Amino acid sequence: MTKLKGAVVGYGFISGKGHIPAFQKRNDVEIVAVADICEARRELAKKALPEARIYDSYETLLATEKHLDFLDIATPPCDHAKIAVAALKHGLHVLCEKPLAPSTADAKAMLLAAKENERVLFPCHNYKHAPVVKLIEETIRSGEIGEVTGVTLQTFRNTHAKGVPEWRTDWRRDFKTSGGGIAMDHGSHTFYLTFSWLGSLPTEVTAKSLRLNPEWDTEDNLSCVLTYPGGKFAHSYLSWTAGMRKVIYTVQGTKGGILVNDDEAEISIGFPNTGSHAGTGDHRVIKQTIESDWMDASHTKWFNSMFDKFLKAIAGNDFTNSEIRESYMCVEIIEKSYASGAQGSQLKALDGSFSFLK
Ligand SMILES: NC(=O)c1ccc[n+]([C@@H]2O[C@H](COP(=O)([O-])OP(=O)(O)OC[C@H]3O[C@@H](n4cnc5c(N)ncnc54)[C@H](O)[C@@H]3O)[C@@H](O)[C@H]2O)c1
Repeated sequence: MTKLKGAVVGYGFISGKGHIPAFQKRNDVEIVAVADICEARRELAKKALPEARIYDSYETLLATEKHLDFLDIATPPCDHAKIAVAALKHGLHVLCEKPLAPSTADAKAMLLAAKENERVLFPCHNYKHAPVVKLIEETIRSGEIGEVTGVTLQTFRNTHAKGVPEWRTDWRRDFKTSGGGIAMDHGSHTFYLTFSWLGSLPTEVTAKSLRLNPEWDTEDNLSCVLTYPGGKFAHSYLSWTAGMRKVIYTVQGTKGGILVNDDEAEISIGFPNTGSHAGTGDHRVIKQTIESDWMDASHTKWFNSMFDKFLKAIAGNDFTNSEIRESYMCVEIIEKSYASGAQGSQLKALDGSFSFLK
C-alpha cells in the first residue's frame, strides 16, 4: 500500500499525545516531517519520530519537503490561517485543529484557499467520534425519540486546558494567541454537535460571557442560545471555573429524550410530549455505560474515524466539504457570541449561506 506522506506543524500536547500516536498505529500514513518553533519540543519530536525531518518553522518545512501529501496543523489558533493558506498554495491537503481560526476573516481566507487550490481543508472535529456521541447520533437517526426540538450542552472544567510546559502553557488565556477564552477553545466541539443533532445550521445567537479570573484577558464562562429553523434551539454552557470535569448533554425529542453524563447514557422512549407523565404503554428508559475516555484530553481513540473522513474528502475531491463549512460556522458563532455579550446579549443573525464560496 502506498502510504500518504504527512507533516505536522506544532509538536505540542494534541499532536504529541493524540495525532502522532494515532498516525503511528495506521499503515496508510507516514509522518515524514515536523515543524515546531520551540527547541525543547523539537528535541522531543526527534525522539518520538526518529526517522522524521525536524524543522524550526513551517516555512522551511514547506520550502524543503517536496513529496508531501498533507499538513496537519496543531499550533494555537492565531497561526492556523497563515500556515493553512501557505500549505494549500503548496498543493497540500490540510487537516487543522479546532478552532479553525480566531476570526471569520481568517477562516474565510482558508476556505477560499482550499477552493482555489483544489485541496481539501478538514477540521479536527473529534467529539463527533466519541462513542457516547455516536450513540446519541444513532438514537436520533433511528427516529425513536421523534423529532429533536431542543438540545442542551454543558461542558464543565475546573481550569483552562494547559499546553505543553516547554512552550507557553497558558496560551489559551492570552487573547493574542488564542483569539478568546473558553468559547474559542471549546465552543467548536459544542456547536458542531448541535448542527448534527438539530439537522441544520443555526440562524441566530445570543450570548453572555463572564471572566471570573481577572488575571487573564479572556472569558472563562460562556452561556449562549442558538436558534434553528422552525424555532428549535440549543442552549450551551461552557465553564473553566466549574470545580469539576464533565460533559452533560440532553436531547429533547417529540417522543422521548436522551441524557448523557460523561459515559452514562439514559434514553427515554415512548414519552410523547402530548402524553401523560407516565408515558405510553410501551415506554421504557434504557440506561447504558459507554466508555468514551472523556478524561483523556488527547482523545487519541477518537482520531482514527475522524482521519478516515479526511481521507474520504481527499478521495472525493471534497475541498470545501460540509465539515469545514461547519467549522467556519463555529467561528462565526464564537465571533458573534462575543459581539452579543458585549452588547447586553443582543440577538445576532448568523449567515450560513457560504456565498463567498459561490
Ligand atoms: N480536538 C481536541 O480535542 C483538541 C485538544 C487539545 C488541543 N486542541 C487544539 O490543538 C491546537 C494545539 O493545542 P495544544 O494543546 O496541543 O497546544 P500546546 O501548547 O501543547 O502545543 C502547541 C505547540 O505548537 C508549537 N507552536 C506554536 N506556534 C507555532 C508555529 N507558528 N509554528 C510551529 N509550531 C508552533 C509550540 O511550540 C508547541 O509545541 C490548538 O488549536 C488547540 O485548540 C484540540
